[in-house]
Amino acid sequence: MKHLTILPGHDKDQRPEHFEPICLEPGSLCAIAGNTGSGKSRLIKDIEQLAAGDSVTGRRVLLDGEAVPPADHLVTSGNLVAHLSQNMRFVLDLTVRDFLTLHCRCRDRKTLSPQTIIDTANTITPEPVRLEESLNLLSGGQSRALMIADIALACDSPIVLIDEIENAGIDKKKALHLLTGTRKLVLIVTHDPHTALMAPKRIIMQNGAIRAVLTRTAGEDRIFSDLDRIYEEQTALQARLRKGEFLS
Ligand SMILES: Nc1ncnc2c1ncn2[C@@H]1O[C@H](COP(=O)(O)OP(=O)(O)O)[C@@H](O)[C@H]1O
Ligand SMILES: [Mg+2]
Repeated sequence: MKHLTILPGHDKDQRPEHFEPICLEPGSLCAIAGNTGSGKSRLIKDIEQLAAGDSVTGRRVLLDGEAVPPADHLVTSGNLVAHLSQNMRFVLDLTVRDFLTLHCRCRDRKTLSPQTIIDTANTITPEPVRLEESLNLLSGGQSRALMIADIALACDSPIVLIDEIENAGIDKKKALHLLTGTRKLVLIVTHDPHTALMAPKRIIMQNGAIRAVLTRTAGEDRIFSDLDRIYEEQTALQARLRKGEFLS
């Protein structure tokens, strides 16, 4: 995939959306913001399902400038998109090692080892994942970290959709860098200014429609620097808190 294009549909009252076609490329991060009920999750689903004017929004999503034939939607969507939704857990009764070995084999990743994947996962979760642990006993944060590392290293899917990541107990900044660094196009729904400003572009939703596509301004770059400093301080304090240290 070289790029993904979103074309306008209509809002909840059937009024047409007004925006220039949105073109997104692998390796980039795009934030989606808006009130509850404004259509953020629906937009994510339009992308996941490669909407062809056939969803409630009437939007169309093109792959490298072309519509994907309806007969190919299911297979293409499966290969193209990894979706991280809220509260995702593994339900397989396998050890982490067995799961990752199986997955690397399915994906024909002969040179990728389970150890490499958990080492990467452990850079984004403070609770280390171990190879002999049972998959369904992992905490929410561990599951998410493992899924993100697995998507980054083992999956070919070039698009990653994330519906809210804030309270997952992982280092979301490292997680997003890991994904964009492995050439994924990442779209993330967020209410958090730090996360939103990590993205050079953000889509604003209202009444089921894309109301605006904003490009980060120079003033926002400065706000991001402040928020980022606070984020790093907060992360460092959390680590010390867990170790039982005094914070001052
Ligand atoms: N353009 C639209 N036309 C009709 N219904 C829509 C449209 N966009 C969203 N919806 C519907 O509105 C409801 C809320 O949207 P949702 O995407 O869940 O909002 P959010 O994730 O921002 O809270 C859903 O039932 C969704 O299918
Ligand atoms: Mg939602």
